[in-house]
Amino acid sequence: MNLGILVLAAGKGTRMKSETPKALHAAAGRSLMEWTFANLEPLDAPETVVVVGDGAAAVTAEIPHGIAHAVQDPQIGTGDAVRVGLDAFSDSIDTILVMPVDMPLLRPATVQEVLATQSASGHAATVLAALVGDPTGYGRVLRDGDSVVGIVEDRDAAEEQLAIREINTSVYAFDRSRLETALGGLDTDNTQGEYYLTDVIRLLAAAGATVGAVVTDESEALGVNDHAELAAAGAELRRRINERLMADGVAMLDPSRVYVDAGVRVAPGARLYPDVYLQGATTVGADAEVGPNVHATDTAIGDGATVRWAVLDRASVGSQASVGPFTHLRPEADLRERTKAGAFVEIKNSVVGPGSKVPHLSYVGDTDIGEGSNIGAGTITVNYDGFAKHRTKIGDRVRIGSDTMLVAPIEIGDDAYTGAGSVITEDVAPGALALERSPQQEIEGYSERRKRRAAEDGDV
Ligand code: UD1
Ligand code: CA
Repeated sequence: MNLGILVLAAGKGTRMKSETPKALHAAAGRSLMEWTFANLEPLDAPETVVVVGDGAAAVTAEIPHGIAHAVQDPQIGTGDAVRVGLDAFSDSIDTILVMPVDMPLLRPATVQEVLATQSASGHAATVLAALVGDPTGYGRVLRDGDSVVGIVEDRDAAEEQLAIREINTSVYAFDRSRLETALGGLDTDNTQGEYYLTDVIRLLAAAGATVGAVVTDESEALGVNDHAELAAAGAELRRRINERLMADGVAMLDPSRVYVDAGVRVAPGARLYPDVYLQGATTVGADAEVGPNVHATDTAIGDGATVRWAVLDRASVGSQASVGPFTHLRPEADLRERTKAGAFVEIKNSVVGPGSKVPHLSYVGDTDIGEGSNIGAGTITVNYDGFAKHRTKIGDRVRIGSDTMLVAPIEIGDDAYTGAGSVITEDVAPGALALERSPQQEIEGYSERRKRRAAEDGDV
């Protein structure tokens, strides 16, 4: 068997009601097309062709290197799409696996079973069917004993056919030459006026060929045609991801409220609380506690770190560090081990050295903080002069007083202090205290004099 995989991704996806082509809508961190490729990867097929059409340029841009594509224009049905795609395979390809782009729940083992059945039987085709509770919207499988003799679309089905609960998943393995012959006999005599790939099955059977079937269950048959189905697919994919993580030793208080994308790595021993979103290339180390309410994208969270009520985007949190609540770590925020970023703290493009703390109400941007320093409540690095961004350097064991404005570019030496409320515009030498305050004045008896003046003016 010389296998070619034909991915159907040209359809308009009308029911998504979206400018984005259906193939590029995402569930659990991957587009539908990426899920399709991920599920097909174990087959290691020598040739794969993707049929693109609606949003062809955008879809083609997301096709991995080494996978061919063919353009179907106009998009006049699944049968026509297969005809277009077949031309792109080399002559040596004798078996075609047709795969729609909208079945992210399909398991690789099931596809392998379809191919094994096709190869062992020598039939003209093998259909992947599924037994479902509610067949509404799907093509129904028409049988004569073990063999499939036709597929009738939901909109074209007669009353008694609508009761059939065995549906067509749209995954098939075909003998290439018999498929080519049957495609030549397709017409558009149906409610949608399209060339249906499903009619190929009837044509094959009518020509005396046998079509077999592999029957799977509801859990992987879902075709994503609208946003409700996309959400359902996402929920099932996340359920599988969480199930695997928990089997690997990750603890979850309520897995139904933990949103981990494919591609995220979570080490055994980590604990994930409700309403945690881990996206992109995020990693979570052993014994870290994440959540409740954490949204992390492309962020590394180290071993034993604690992150609560926080938004982290392309940031790094060192081991044993503590982040939150109500903390925003923006791109290139690099918090080293045992650091703290506390309540109402925003940090971007900065290094917070080992053991240093930014506990309350601060903005730290374009800053390098050394080891064991403490940034007082309300401190702001004034990094932008209206034209350019400048860096702030803070050494080791520094004590920045509360409500200090550090006007960059500026350097605070090791072991230095700044007085609370100071606007620091000059570098501070190691070990020095920098103060920038007007002397406090005290006006005695002020309150009494004020009251007297008000009485004289007749105000009271
Ligand atoms: C299709 C099947 C139906 C099956 C269901 C399973 C047909 C006629 N019907 O219906 O029997 O139960 O899938 O989910 O095949 N596409 C193209 N070019 C086109 C039209 C579609 O490439 O001109 C692609 C789509 O991008 C999609 C796939 O073919 O990946 C299936 O098309 P879709 O419109 O989703 O078909 P369904 O109505 O779901
Ligand atoms: Ca579909």
